[in-house]
Amino acid sequence: MKPVSMLDLHLEYQYMKEEIDAAIKRCLEHQKWILGPEVKELEETVAKYLGVDHCIGVSSGTEALVLSLRALAIKTKGQEYFDRSDKIITTPFTFTATGDAILRAGATPVFADIDPLTFNLDPMKVEEYLAGGASGVVGMVPVHLYGQSCDMDRLTEIAQKRGIFMVEDVAQAFGGKWREKKLGSLGAAGAFSFFPSKNLGGFGDGGMISTSDGELAGLARMLLKHGGKDKYNVEHVGYNARLDTIQAAVLLAKLKYIDEFNEKRRETASLYDHELGGQAGIIVPAKQEMAQHVYHQYTVRVAAGRRDLLQTRLKEKGIATMVYYPVVLHKMGVFNGRMVVANSLSEAEKAQQEVLSLPIEPLMEKGLVKEIAAGIKDSLSGSLSGSSPGSAA
Ligand SMILES: Cc1ncc(COP(=O)(O)O)c(C=O)c1O
Repeated sequence: MKPVSMLDLHLEYQYMKEEIDAAIKRCLEHQKWILGPEVKELEETVAKYLGVDHCIGVSSGTEALVLSLRALAIKTKGQEYFDRSDKIITTPFTFTATGDAILRAGATPVFADIDPLTFNLDPMKVEEYLAGGASGVVGMVPVHLYGQSCDMDRLTEIAQKRGIFMVEDVAQAFGGKWREKKLGSLGAAGAFSFFPSKNLGGFGDGGMISTSDGELAGLARMLLKHGGKDKYNVEHVGYNARLDTIQAAVLLAKLKYIDEFNEKRRETASLYDHELGGQAGIIVPAKQEMAQHVYHQYTVRVAAGRRDLLQTRLKEKGIATMVYYPVVLHKMGVFNGRMVVANSLSEAEKAQQEVLSLPIEPLMEKGLVKEIAAGIKDSLSGSLSGSSPGSAA
């Protein structure tokens, strides 16, 4: 078997090479590298795709989160940053940037535990924390991890009942849905990442904010250009966080394929489910009736201890896998003394030890999926087999 990487971006490029090359060539010809016409076109096209009034291109998913939160601080508190006494609830089982953005916006992240089935913020745990008389909570940042929607019915209900805002972290879920609505259109704002490995990925860093709130959109637009409508006379503490024209051009070319590619990811996931579902020692990703998963990652659970052994055995067979994420946020030094732990985070800690993401990409050959699954079954059938992983068993 020839070595299998987690992701081979050459495949996508070859598939749409002509369009991408032509898009880059147009940039070379017009030379409008900063906020050129492609940025505006991408913003308008994505806004229409998501069903929101405004999209604002920014330099990364991280900046999309920071700017959304900063804009909310300015809008809701009339101040540049939140205060440390302002709390924002999120998941500890995510990429660092989610929690870090809350710190950078001046607030304190509150980590609540995850649902073991979806790996996403558990509404019951959020409710439990709020019902315990928590004070100072201003918002929540749910993350649609691996491309799987959070339970948006229950989280929205909690946010409305408590009068707190919601910023969706949609970095991993471009094109995903909850019921008929696109993710990123359900909260006050959505923060997308166009990091090259994402479902919609550029040729470098990039991100986008989605919102139907005109005031937030206006503030985010100021913040990304140093903090003012006029960058030579600014009103807010801003950033240089613009989306590059050339990235927007590449993304516009790739956007035409996003629904087709997400569908192909779902087909690959179904094949993995078919090959691995019911296999002792492994749990395949859960499905939610109301959600359309976009499988940014196809992530299984394998009991702690044996997960690392399986990963090693697969590596020996030339099959790459990844652990997203090996360290939960509440165990990271950066959050030490700067966070609130809402409740026992045992499910997040268990997930950290049991998750394993398998190679998945839209243009993957079905035969390869079967070979990877066979490699997993073969590895599991040795001394790895035995008891079941996780509380989701
Ligand atoms: C859940 C999550 N949030 C935020 C980010 C940050 O996005 P970026 O890398 O574009 O800054 C990422 C991307 O890695 C992510 O996976």
